[in-house]
Amino acid sequence: MTGEKNLQALLAGMRPVQRTGDYVYVLWPYGRPLAPGIEAAVREAEGLTVVLSREEADREGLSYDFVGAWITLEIHSALEAVGLTAAVSRALTEARISCNVLAGFHHDHLLVPVADAPRALEVLTELSAHSRQEPGGPQEPGPAHGTGQLQGSVRPSVPGLELRDETPADRDAILALTAEAFAISPATGLPADGEPVEVNLLRELFEAKEYLPGLSVVAVLDGEVVGHVISTRGWVGGHDLLGLGPIGVAPRLQRRGIGSALMNESIARANAAGESGIALLGSTEYYPRFGFVPAATLGVLPPEDVWGDHFQLLPLALWPGGIHGVFRYAEPFTRL
Ligand SMILES: CC(C)(COP(=O)(O)OP(=O)(O)OC[C@H]1O[C@@H](n2cnc3c(N)ncnc32)[C@H](O)[C@@H]1OP(=O)(O)O)[C@@H](O)C(=O)NCCC(=O)NCCS
Repeated sequence: MTGEKNLQALLAGMRPVQRTGDYVYVLWPYGRPLAPGIEAAVREAEGLTVVLSREEADREGLSYDFVGAWITLEIHSALEAVGLTAAVSRALTEARISCNVLAGFHHDHLLVPVADAPRALEVLTELSAHSRQEPGGPQEPGPAHGTGQLQGSVRPSVPGLELRDETPADRDAILALTAEAFAISPATGLPADGEPVEVNLLRELFEAKEYLPGLSVVAVLDGEVVGHVISTRGWVGGHDLLGLGPIGVAPRLQRRGIGSALMNESIARANAAGESGIALLGSTEYYPRFGFVPAATLGVLPPEDVWGDHFQLLPLALWPGGIHGVFRYAEPFTRL
């Protein structure tokens, strides 16, 4: 089994995930059979150090000082990968968070003081987001000028595909395409009852005050609109964010990279426009490939609790951190 060795790819693709519970380091009593709940162990001349859940340590009557949160960096790093641990520790040190690193065969794991866990997750997610913006990273941003001028800033992966600003003349074609794409509801997997709700949502977003020129993008193939994505203004408290959606691709042309091209174009345009983050509600299988993480891990809570991890956020180059609150979508979303 091989793992990723390129540091920038590792940082860009890493997803910090906190395990449930608290963890402690204890010196295991000499001669006592090992308990089943031990998560890591280091044998030294002075004795055996083990890491286990605080609950288990309490059950065993073992004493400890440090109580940590366990964060796993979810990317398969090669054991000989150089620099990941250093980059992660540097970022946490700069944020004044202490951390103990454990490397398993598949992943690196960090134990940070319990109280610092939310901030540590933010710092790590920001580190990953920033490395995606660096030249050579998986998602190179477009040229640093305003939105609406960036046609072709991300090379489409479908030959002949053009990505450009939507114009009012495209709207009928976009609505027809959206009706087709959402004919089977992605939320329920069942046929939509009448016109899919996403069609009227789009009609209203085109006219809404939260509409942002340059962030409504069509994919055109042989002169035909075959895909569309829109991002509109959203907020957490007084902080501006983007809400992405709906996104749709003509069913007969799905799974050819058009959706990915639209996503990458949206991300490049949002970065170039100086936006700080993009929120969306969608599949936890599809959007993480663009760097989206459960929004709550960054302090951005879904408008509805039941959305859980499906409510995702991509922190952009200007993500400020320290944001906490419930996301508010453009007004037409509230009528759904
Ligand atoms: C979601 C959508 C825009 C993706 O467009 P696309 O052109 O098919 O996407 P790409 O070709 O770039 O990517 C296809 C990959 O994404 C996966 N994918 C697409 N939608 C997915 C979903 N809802 N859940 C999980 N995976 C999904 C495909 O399985 C495929 O995976 P693979 O690369 O491993 O084969 C398109 O499928 C669509 O219009 N769906 C109907 C409307 C919809 O669900 N919109 C999103 C609502 S959140």
